Amino acid sequence: MKNITILGATGSIGLNTLDVVSRHPDQFSVFAVSANSDWKSLIQICKDYQPSFAVLSDEASAEKLRAVVSPGVQVLCGEDSLDEIAAHPNTDFVMAAIVGGAGMSSTFSAAKAGKRIMLANKESLILGGNLLMGLVKNSGAEIIPVDSEHSAIFQCLKGGSDGLSKIQLTASGGPFLKTSFENLKSATPEQACNHPNWKMGKKISVDSATMMNKGLEIIEASFLFGLSASQIEVVIHPQSIVHSFVYFDDGSVLSQLGLPDMRSAIAYALSHPGRIKSGVKALDLTQQESLEFHQPDLKKYKCLELAYLALEQGKSAPGTLNAANEVAVNAFLKNKIGFLNIPEIVEKTLQEVSCQNLDTLESVVENDQLSRKIAQSFVKSSD
Ligand SMILES: NC(=O)c1ccc[n+]([C@@H]2O[C@H](COP(=O)([O-])OP(=O)(O)OC[C@H]3O[C@@H](n4cnc5c(N)ncnc54)[C@H](OP(=O)(O)O)[C@@H]3O)[C@@H](O)[C@H]2O)c1
Repeated sequence: MKNITILGATGSIGLNTLDVVSRHPDQFSVFAVSANSDWKSLIQICKDYQPSFAVLSDEASAEKLRAVVSPGVQVLCGEDSLDEIAAHPNTDFVMAAIVGGAGMSSTFSAAKAGKRIMLANKESLILGGNLLMGLVKNSGAEIIPVDSEHSAIFQCLKGGSDGLSKIQLTASGGPFLKTSFENLKSATPEQACNHPNWKMGKKISVDSATMMNKGLEIIEASFLFGLSASQIEVVIHPQSIVHSFVYFDDGSVLSQLGLPDMRSAIAYALSHPGRIKSGVKALDLTQQESLEFHQPDLKKYKCLELAYLALEQGKSAPGTLNAANEVAVNAFLKNKIGFLNIPEIVEKTLQEVSCQNLDTLESVVENDQLSRKIAQSFVKSSD
């Protein structure tokens, strides 16, 4: 029996994880869950799964939950408590599914404690990739990617990475694939969150619309698989059936296919090196529309270009890119800035914040905070 801590249990990845886990009560038990403020959703989750711990970000929400759950569930609050449940001796696997930089500390905590980290929170790697990979190596922790593209590559590399020449991350192109650059100026949060293939949280949905999500994935892939920017390509594949390609020197190309449903990657992260049922229907290629592949338009998807730039610069640049993007996406979701202001703010912040080495977690946090402050000032000036 493996005990699972699900960080971000009320989100899209968190709920999908609960769905997969509940199909295998003989193999997995939910040890701890967390949410930011959605204590109401945690009531049902606590009832159904009886975790030992439930953690919320603030005391007011924790108090409300505490009043209604059974005494067997210990309700805690704050970042230290997230770190605690991620590193708890009774936790075997940690699903890192908090959205944004807020998920970094608990991911690091799980890494230090040598856990299996099922990594959905790519931001942990973008912010402090070298540090996180170092911790994983030293503690004996393992990272199993949950992003469908990285899960695909991870699965394709099960036989080793000898002779690997490059990878290609597939990208749906998001809801604006057929929208002209001109019309992007007036794109609304509702339109941006209306992804054609995947049901996801709001932040990652906007990132898919700007293609910053793919940009962050390029950086994530670089850390996970030890690849340079020139070895990571992006190809638009609107049907989201092929979840990435791995190219080898002998001309072979390996790939993993499946319907666009995150439960496949989540199940693989839970069961690796074996496989379990995920609830995802089998793919029938005879019933699919034609599979298309084409080059991304870098003028339209400026965020992709900025992510390559940040990866090439290295050091603190990916962290700055991520912080500025989080601030800009948040402002866009609140209708404070336009859709095309997102890449503009990220670019200006990258130019403004000097690039430096990040040797400690404190320096990662400092760079993140400084970048957020500067990005915020650009948001204000775009008002
Ligand atoms: N959704 C996908 O299909 C998908 C695919 C690949 C990778 N990912 C990655 O997985 C992560 C989660 O994405 P998602 O789509 O599941 O997001 P989501 O639906 O927005 O859920 C986010 C979860 O994190 C919690 N949370 C938000 N802010 C927090 C904070 N400041 N402190 C602590 N907890 C916080 C939320 O709690 P509340 O409910 O209380 O707000 C919720 O449980 C992201 O890093 C994303 O890039 C997602």
